Amino acid sequence: MTRFRAILERTFPEDPGVPMIKVTFVDATGASQTVEARPGATLMETAVENAVPSIVGFCGGMCSCGTCHCYVDAGWASRMAAPSEDELDTLRRVLDRDPRSRLACQIKIEPGLEGLRVELPARQRNP
Ligand code: FES
Repeated sequence: MTRFRAILERTFPEDPGVPMIKVTFVDATGASQTVEARPGATLMETAVENAVPSIVGFCGGMCSCGTCHCYVDAGWASRMAAPSEDELDTLRRVLDRDPRSRLACQIKIEPGLEGLRVELPARQRNP
């Protein structure tokens, strides 16, 4: 068990009464990885816990590094909180930004996101 997974399990213990949420990450080659996400965790934490390539999470979710950049289609984006000004500021510095760009550390896993599919950029820049 990785140290990060242990922290996540302590912070968001699996509750048998709360089902896990299936999330699919699709990389720039089209390869996909479907994982189970803990409600309350962020999409970045879910990706790191499951060793999803391309999601680094360098700043630990502080919305400052941009290494959790992902693409969320409008249909899914409408089910999430809109990006904050801090998120938009950080997104201005990421590579390959487009109108679907979001920071995975700012997306909280909730039951309404069951089946969420996000795409990953071909390049992530370490700060
Ligand atoms: S983890 Fe650094 S901006 Fe998301």
